[in-house]
Amino acid sequence: MKVLVIGGGGREHALAWKLAQSPRVTKLYAAPGNAGIAQVAECRPVGAEDLPGLHALAQEVKPDLTVVGPDNPLAMGVVDLFQKHGLRIFGPSASAARFESSKIFAKQFMARHGIPTARFGQFSDSRSAEAFARSFGGPCVVKADGLALGKGVLVCQTPTEAAQAIRLMMEQKAFGAAGERVVIEEFMTGDEISIHALVDGRSFRAFPSSQDHKRVGDGDTGPNTGGMGTISPVPQATAELLQTVERQILEPFVRGCQADGIEYRGLIYPGLMLTPDGPRVLEFNARFGDPETQVLMMRMESDLLEAVEAVVDGRLADTALRFRSEAAVCVVMASGGYPGDYPKGKVIRGLDDAAKLDGVQVFHAGTKRQDGAIVTSGGRVLGVTALGRDLKAARERAYEAVARIQFDGAHCRKDIGWRAFRFMENK
Ligand code: AMP
Ligand code: GLY
Repeated sequence: MKVLVIGGGGREHALAWKLAQSPRVTKLYAAPGNAGIAQVAECRPVGAEDLPGLHALAQEVKPDLTVVGPDNPLAMGVVDLFQKHGLRIFGPSASAARFESSKIFAKQFMARHGIPTARFGQFSDSRSAEAFARSFGGPCVVKADGLALGKGVLVCQTPTEAAQAIRLMMEQKAFGAAGERVVIEEFMTGDEISIHALVDGRSFRAFPSSQDHKRVGDGDTGPNTGGMGTISPVPQATAELLQTVERQILEPFVRGCQADGIEYRGLIYPGLMLTPDGPRVLEFNARFGDPETQVLMMRMESDLLEAVEAVVDGRLADTALRFRSEAAVCVVMASGGYPGDYPKGKVIRGLDDAAKLDGVQVFHAGTKRQDGAIVTSGGRVLGVTALGRDLKAARERAYEAVARIQFDGAHCRKDIGWRAFRFMENK
């Protein structure tokens, strides 16, 4: 089978790496891919958001299946386009991808179907937004409705801060059209976890829990990033808690889609907060997480192609997912300056040395091949990922591998998994 992967980051490397292990995959393509993906796939220089280019590529290479990594092409309708031309593709339609591309859509859906989430209001004028924010009397969260590169969420400590955030979005249009409408919600506290689930319109199959580290600095300090590292499993996510998540969130999600006539096929990944009152949905993502996918693919024992095809063909109910009991830790190595401006083209050394370590896989995020060397080409450069008998062993191995890799300006967090380790120590 010929498979095309859309995207060129660490998530797509992990997906391509796992797909390449399927005995039924005879040829892999990636658009645009990166230097790591090129080890398992033929990379074509077509951007993930170039829909006409992707369609032309599909007409040329005739993939039997296409797997979409990032959110933007989904929101732009790549699935609708491919399906219109009779091409099999994994991912939700643009309309179903609104769970991620419109926070108002997601919040209204949750309210309609009793899915636990923060109390909220939605606004298209700033005065009523400010009045609602004041009604909390203390902290609240202001969210741009649309996609804003992960930056459209502002946690505000006071009503004054909230009013500034609202004006920034609605009057100064700091996030463009994404901020024309806003959601204001109750501030919640607790550990955050990611739950990934495949959905075929009727059934779902959940992946093990994982946890991202979004801030750039140790101890969750500094600005937000795309994600600086992940662990799986998350010790706070007990079997009992996961049952609650399935019962209160995933089951009502699937039933709600059916009731509303939304055909959801693909991956749904709610970001959850484990509040004192139980798990609450922070947001829905309509695709695999990055770098969550790196740890999930390391732990996945089942054939990813079989699972993805079961979603596309609507036979997930007959498909089981199997995972290794080992834990996985992913440490992202980023370019100097990231998440601000950063240089590109820095030569990366030590990749082979790192890969020699048992249970280690170095997923490429922002890399390319240049004059025979592998060089940096993005903010997040590598996702150095390791399996271990437990989180501690996996963390040790991941950092051992990180120590073998060098490029100018490289930085990473030194504390991936710290909340999990703190939780286990206090248990
Ligand atoms: P989102 O993109 O909606 O997941 O928000 C990004 C981040 O903002 C989350 O990972 C949380 O850390 C924080 N956040 C979002 N909503 C809330 C909330 N209601 N209460 C507290 N923190 C929140
Ligand atoms: N890891 C965060 C995200 O993929 O949205």
